[in-house]
Amino acid sequence: MSKTFEKVSAIRGMNDILPNESWQWERLEQILKMWLAQYGYLNIRTPILEQTRLFARGIGEVTDIVEKEMYTFRMGEDSEQLTMRPEFTAGIVRAAIEHHITYDRPQRLFSMGQVFRHERPQKGRYRQFHQVSIEALGFEGPDIDAEQIIMLSRLWKLLGLKDIHLELNSLGQIDERKAHREALIKHLEAHIDVLDEDGKRRMYTNPLRVLDTKNPAMQEMANQAPKLFDFLGEQSKAHFQEICTRLEEAGISYTINPRLVRGLDYYNLTVFEWVTGSLGAQATVCGGGRYDGLCELLGGKSTPAIGFAIGLERLLALMEQSQGFIAPSETDIYIIHQGELASRKALQIAELCRDQGWRVLVHAGSASFKAQFKRADSSGAKFALILGESEVNEATISIKPLRLDNDGMMAEQVTIAQAELIEELQKRI
Ligand code: HAM
Repeated sequence: MSKTFEKVSAIRGMNDILPNESWQWERLEQILKMWLAQYGYLNIRTPILEQTRLFARGIGEVTDIVEKEMYTFRMGEDSEQLTMRPEFTAGIVRAAIEHHITYDRPQRLFSMGQVFRHERPQKGRYRQFHQVSIEALGFEGPDIDAEQIIMLSRLWKLLGLKDIHLELNSLGQIDERKAHREALIKHLEAHIDVLDEDGKRRMYTNPLRVLDTKNPAMQEMANQAPKLFDFLGEQSKAHFQEICTRLEEAGISYTINPRLVRGLDYYNLTVFEWVTGSLGAQATVCGGGRYDGLCELLGGKSTPAIGFAIGLERLLALMEQSQGFIAPSETDIYIIHQGELASRKALQIAELCRDQGWRVLVHAGSASFKAQFKRADSSGAKFALILGESEVNEATISIKPLRLDNDGMMAEQVTIAQAELIEELQKRI
């Protein structure tokens, strides 16, 4: 009796991207790279695994990501704790410090790829997902802050997105936050009866995050809490005002959202998110802000910086709703053949066609003409080349157009000498 093996499936929240959708990813990646090049951003590739303490220190001990979402493990008893990156920023800053790349000039950098967070999976929220993360290291702003937002607005236009809106806030500087924090803790203490477990646990460690609650019972308390904006000094206010002015000049509309605090602790001054009404609960397509203290916190010299990341799954979902991509044809020519000699000839002719740069599929194995035509049609090829017994004997080949031409007509099938094939196809492709 033969043994049957149990199937192995992918991990929950981690998706396979199959060929019927991977072409959309490739298209998007191409557009992103072109867009990034237009603004002078260069690619940096850091490891997926980093020491856990990089993220604990960089993102902050009292954040959802570090407290409960990181994939962390040890290899062997004495090894250090390692973590699969939950975002790119901390790793990029680590690499910049380690290789002294901001030593004599600022850097515009980007990374694209998988990141990992152990969240509860649902539509638009996964455990492995993809980000493009854009980081400008060594820039004080506010000019670059505005440029990054204008840059995003250009991307949405390039991709044909409409339902996407900018939310903006300023978190001020450390001392301003400290004064606000003290006032906020007083407010939380006065309303301790409405705080949930998370709120009580965080009211002294991270009171600002308590306001970021989704708990409806806490909304009223959160709305009445002292506003950070009222604690900002002249310089912080001027920084923010300058960004607003530049956005207005660029014709970009925005909402100031005083409750926008972001889920990572490294931010100061500018923070922003782009949100959409079209994706249900997972509405944030892009988030970012200024992180002037991160470089120093990770052992480098003080370096002002700002960046953002776009979630690619969410961006693709939004694109599909807005207009979608038109599937490109993956094949130019499909070669159909019958008999041993024709099969060999087909291989030779295919190589001649590939010399021209065309994309060619030769039918593999034997099948009826009818079955082969079906395959040719579903391959998306523009032409089928047919090599039957008579074609081989007479050194001819038939060209059968498979798609309508620009006038909406289907051209006739023709049979020509094999020697004329390339010239004939050059006219048609
Ligand atoms: P973030 O807001 O944690 O920021 O993530 C950025 C984007 O990643 C989100 O706006 C969302 O589109 C996407 N995203 C987050 N979690 C998930 C998930 N579980 N499934 C699918 N998509 C998700 C950062 O990561 C910062 N490093 C951004 C940054 C760069 N700040 C400065 N530089």
